[in-house]
Amino acid sequence: MRTRRVFLVARCVRGLEPALATEILRTGSATIDRIGHREVGFRTDDHHDLRLRTADDVFLLAHRRDDIGPHKRDLAALAEMARAVDLDALARARRAHGGPPGFGGGVEISASFLGRRTYSRYDIEDGVGRVLAERAGLPYHTRRHGDPPPPGHSGWRLTLDGTHACLLLRLGHRPAHRRAYKNTTIAGTLHPPVAAAMAQAAELRPGQRVLDPCCGAGTLLIEAHHTVPGTTLLGFDVDPVACQAARRNAGPLPVTVGHGDAGALPLADRAVDRVLCNPPWGAQVDAAGRLAGHPERWWHELARVLTDEGRAIVLLPEAGGLGHALAVGLAPVQVRQLSLFGSRPLLVHLERPRPRRRSSGR
Ligand SMILES: C[S@@+](CC[C@H](N)C(=O)[O-])C[C@H]1O[C@@H](n2cnc3c(N)ncnc32)[C@H](O)[C@@H]1O
Repeated sequence: MRTRRVFLVARCVRGLEPALATEILRTGSATIDRIGHREVGFRTDDHHDLRLRTADDVFLLAHRRDDIGPHKRDLAALAEMARAVDLDALARARRAHGGPPGFGGGVEISASFLGRRTYSRYDIEDGVGRVLAERAGLPYHTRRHGDPPPPGHSGWRLTLDGTHACLLLRLGHRPAHRRAYKNTTIAGTLHPPVAAAMAQAAELRPGQRVLDPCCGAGTLLIEAHHTVPGTTLLGFDVDPVACQAARRNAGPLPVTVGHGDAGALPLADRAVDRVLCNPPWGAQVDAAGRLAGHPERWWHELARVLTDEGRAIVLLPEAGGLGHALAVGLAPVQVRQLSLFGSRPLLVHLERPRPRRRSSGR
């Protein structure tokens, strides 16, 4: 069978671009073309399921040309581009990379552009979407009236950045960040691609004991299971509603959830190898129980339950928490800032300082 080089674009949360690029390279079948603002361009020629857990969305590049002019008459060039797409090849590539067959029950498209133009995004969407739908023999859903697209439509995207016009087709039948398991949610629940990036940063190994002391709806533990199966996953939360949400979302997965206070964990000293957590210091959830007004108790318990070789990956709303980490003897070995729904949290990787090796010199 002749293999075609397929070009793709994966989109992510700002700050996760290196984690996404690493995950793409770890598939073993891809080369990276470009790492940009919130996106990674890459290519692959393997027939291979591309489930990228740190991506918000993954698209196949359907067509690319020079950007068009700013006048309404220039829109004809985009309709021409939609006529030039090799729909059969695109449908084959979508299928080969784990996407659904064909183009679903219809076509929907979302457009964005940079610079001043005399046409609107809806003019672009309708001009291109109608051509694609007609060629595929499917209904077209316009976004012009604000109605959400019906489920099962193929999702297209068109970007005009002043240099290029890119037409993209979503690989899956829904955005990659929407997880089938996440049916029950709570305030402050974590965006699954961020949880996946945290689980990947933890470098999990089967057999390790992994704890989320404030587990909410269980996102971190579930993503940890999908990242490396075979760990022992344990979560606590003071809120019984959160515990129930985590149990429901985990379903048959081997995740144990207990009602407990992260300020006084029912665990022995040095009992866990990895801690994954976004503690309740954000705007959406208040610290409760023994943590209310006492964040230092969370840090004390973290340092107590982690093994000497242990590692914690935590999401903190600001740098103030790092002082607590140092006070309990944990060293921040990597800090990355993300941009997440209007906030700028820090993704922090903590370990116990390793004793320095004595120099064998004089
Ligand atoms: C930001 S949310 C965690 C979200 C979770 N990672 C998820 O994806 O759903 C913080 C959680 O901390 C819990 N919490 C607050 N105080 C706590 C305490 N003292 N001990 C344990 N959990 C606590 C809240 O009930 C909430 O579920």
